[in-house]
Amino acid sequence: MLAEPFNWQPGMWKMLIVVMCVALLGCLQAQELQEHVSIILLGATGDLAKKYLWQGLFQLYLDEAGRGHSFSFHGAALTAPKQGQELMAKALESLSCPKDMAPSHCAEEKDQFLQLSRYRQLKTAEDYQALNKDIEAQLQHAGLREAGRIFYFSVPPFAYADIARNINSSCRPGPGAWLRVVLEKPFGHDHFSAQQLATELGSFFQEEEMYRVDHYLGKQAVAQILPFRDQNRKALDSLWNRHHVERVEIIMKETVDAEGRTSFYEEYGVIRDVLQNHLTEVLTLVAMELPLNVSSAEAVLRHKLQVFQALRGLQRGSAVVGQYQSYSEQVRRELQKPDSFHSLTPTFAGGPWGRAWGTGLPTSPGAAFQSRCPWVGWRGLEVGSPPGCSEARIAFPCLPGVLPA
Ligand SMILES: *[C@@H]1O[C@H](CO)[C@@H](O)[C@H](O)[C@H]1NC(C)=O
Ligand SMILES: *[C@@H]1O[C@H](CO)[C@@H](O)[C@H](O)[C@H]1NC(C)=O
Repeated sequence: MLAEPFNWQPGMWKMLIVVMCVALLGCLQAQELQEHVSIILLGATGDLAKKYLWQGLFQLYLDEAGRGHSFSFHGAALTAPKQGQELMAKALESLSCPKDMAPSHCAEEKDQFLQLSRYRQLKTAEDYQALNKDIEAQLQHAGLREAGRIFYFSVPPFAYADIARNINSSCRPGPGAWLRVVLEKPFGHDHFSAQQLATELGSFFQEEEMYRVDHYLGKQAVAQILPFRDQNRKALDSLWNRHHVERVEIIMKETVDAEGRTSFYEEYGVIRDVLQNHLTEVLTLVAMELPLNVSSAEAVLRHKLQVFQALRGLQRGSAVVGQYQSYSEQVRRELQKPDSFHSLTPTFAGGPWGRAWGTGLPTSPGAAFQSRCPWVGWRGLEVGSPPGCSEARIAFPCLPGVLPA
């Protein structure tokens, strides 16, 4: 039941390391005593954990362990202890080291990591209290001071509130130590449920304790949009506007279908799965007025919000949704539906988003594209990426004399 697990590219865990490093380093700086960090991975036996999260945690351990802090890793899930342990052990088997690490050193590091990693069932309020007690006992036993705790939510959003309540009531670290929770999309399933979830989480956690992740922003092509614009400011400044750009096409291509994850897809569909989060983020990065300082998170956020305020919104009549041919059959098979069942869940969506603002760019995410003129300007593709990839294409109009060389 995880969000589009098949979209994750090898290397995506690097982005997770970045997230967790940011969560960690913000807190670790300027501390001299050896302190202990507990990382709790919720959903430790799931697909995402197996494919990326454990590898990301291992890499984090390799990068950070030598810097004076100690770590423990608690893999948690609803699964009963014995079965959960087996599943987690399987996930940990395939950990890999950086290419330049000697095999013997790698084996040693892996062994240490395994010794620091435990599975535990987290289901009831008592389970969370026991986790807290175990962390405290471990700290006391080893004579360590606690730096903080990170909870990574690799679980469906309907489980967030219960987990948050349990963390707040029994798993907060003592005074002087920090708490961080990492949340993935999808964040609710509509405007109302997203707001409700935000309010609930806000009642359990402080804003600075929450890290909301859109892993798509870690993709190479997406991560490079702002730096590209920034580094080419001089050349692009006079061109990146409605006088020179006819439209922007943001396209996400998939090579895999929804087979094996129709229970998730039936709940969310393509619009909630990728359009309102991943592609909307790309839209803001392409269409925003470039902040003077693109490294300033606060300035980038402000400029993103300006794009949203300037969007004209989507008209029902101009949007297109579709479904690939074998989808309904896959749903019937995987969800044991009768032969007469036909799903109405869209697996394709596209439409024009107008931007009614200043010198901004007209944008149209997801629209099928018929090139009327050769592409000039920039086209972001992942280096060495497979055919499923995303592109943001900028179309300059085909007026003679206007095209830049
Ligand atoms: C969070 O935990 C504290 C301490 O146990 C408690 O006083 C507070 O009511 C909890 N918040 C919510 C919203 O339950
Ligand atoms: C840009 O913002 C970053 C992050 O806030 C800050 O560290 C940096 O000093 C800023 N650069 C300039 C030139 O203001």
